[in-house]
Amino acid sequence: MSAVSTNRLIAVIPGDGIGPEVARASVRVLEQSATKHGLPVDFHWYDFGAEKYLREGVTLPEAAFQDFKQNYAAVFLGALGDPRVPDMAHAKDILLGMRFRLDLFINLRPVQLLHPAHTPLKDRKPEDIDFVIFRENTEGLYAGMGGNFKKDTAEEIAINEDVNTRLGVERIIRAAFEYARKNGKKRVCMSDKANVLTYGHGLWQRVFKLVQQEYPEITPRHLYADVLAMEMVRAPQDFDVIVTCNLFGDILSDLGAALVGGLGLAASGNIHPGKVSLFEPVHGSAPPLAGKDAANPLAMILTGAMMYENLGFTDAAREIERAVRTAIHQNRVTRDLGGDLGTQACGQAVAELIAAGV
Ligand code: NAD
Ligand code: IPM
Ligand code: MN
Repeated sequence: MSAVSTNRLIAVIPGDGIGPEVARASVRVLEQSATKHGLPVDFHWYDFGAEKYLREGVTLPEAAFQDFKQNYAAVFLGALGDPRVPDMAHAKDILLGMRFRLDLFINLRPVQLLHPAHTPLKDRKPEDIDFVIFRENTEGLYAGMGGNFKKDTAEEIAINEDVNTRLGVERIIRAAFEYARKNGKKRVCMSDKANVLTYGHGLWQRVFKLVQQEYPEITPRHLYADVLAMEMVRAPQDFDVIVTCNLFGDILSDLGAALVGGLGLAASGNIHPGKVSLFEPVHGSAPPLAGKDAANPLAMILTGAMMYENLGFTDAAREIERAVRTAIHQNRVTRDLGGDLGTQACGQAVAELIAAGV
């Protein structure tokens, strides 16, 4: 579908599993907020996902991709993943395809404790767990380079290559420092496995040492990814900004989610500053929860707040975050957080708090 206005259209792709349920709840909240603040946004829904792929063989049509790229302000994605498509062929085009082809090199994943009851760590308060992960999002082991030799034989060789470019590494490290500077954060921790991956991650080490010199007010730190996993649990208060490669960022962001209440609360943005960006919760399609009105919509609602902030709707974004925090404090939440609300009722609670001027 081609668009009339140029920069405030939002393409909603609910996707698979719990995606449609959390997307419905979230867009209701975003529309409510838009009405209240008079935001010039328009949501257009797209049915790309496993169902369409299985039925029509269509993943992300080129025309739709070009339309998003040229006419849209953002894409808002629920989740992808369906047991009937075990190789995630559709996600390769839709999710990874947009990350790569829109050059969304920053995957920003905040880890923020909103309520002390929701961390499994002993005696931790919200001020102890408040950092962001900058995950490189366009290369590394996700580049899709490699192949199989003698496939399905006893001598099979299977290779995935770890692609690290000077440009790719430098821009994500710089983005992490810029974020720290802009937000008054004092510490940036870069994480790799340069002790083993001496070529690719050696590049990360060298670039990190160069870029940190431009930010003398920020304390740089380096941790290998294995020890970072331990330190995130042992001493989360020691982190403000973590920057790492694509695969480690994927794994560590799920660990981060576990520190603050689980995947039902974890937001993420796939961002290229100034260009159309893609916003999706960290979680997947959670097939066992699908169709039961049981999934937590707050991860996608917080993701929507991140999208609004990215579009310049800062007041509305802050208000949505406050409403989510209040809903959590009032225990108007789904079962994963100890409440008894369904997906839509939880979203409705957030919408009511916004209407009431939280
Ligand atoms: P998942 O994130 O779907 O689920 C992991 C666990 O978290 C499950 O116990 C699930 O019930 C729980 N969970 C996730 N989201 C929740 C929510 N909103 N509320 C309450 N609980 C929630 O990960 P998985 O099971 O490994 O993957 C399922 C499918 O999703 C796979 O096909 C996978 O490839 C895909 N996936 C997609 C994305 C994405 O679209 N961005 C991300 C991760 C996984
Ligand atoms: C995520 C997901 C994706 C990833 C999958 C579904 C391709 O786990 O967004 O964290 O590995 O990046
Ligand atoms: Mn993941």
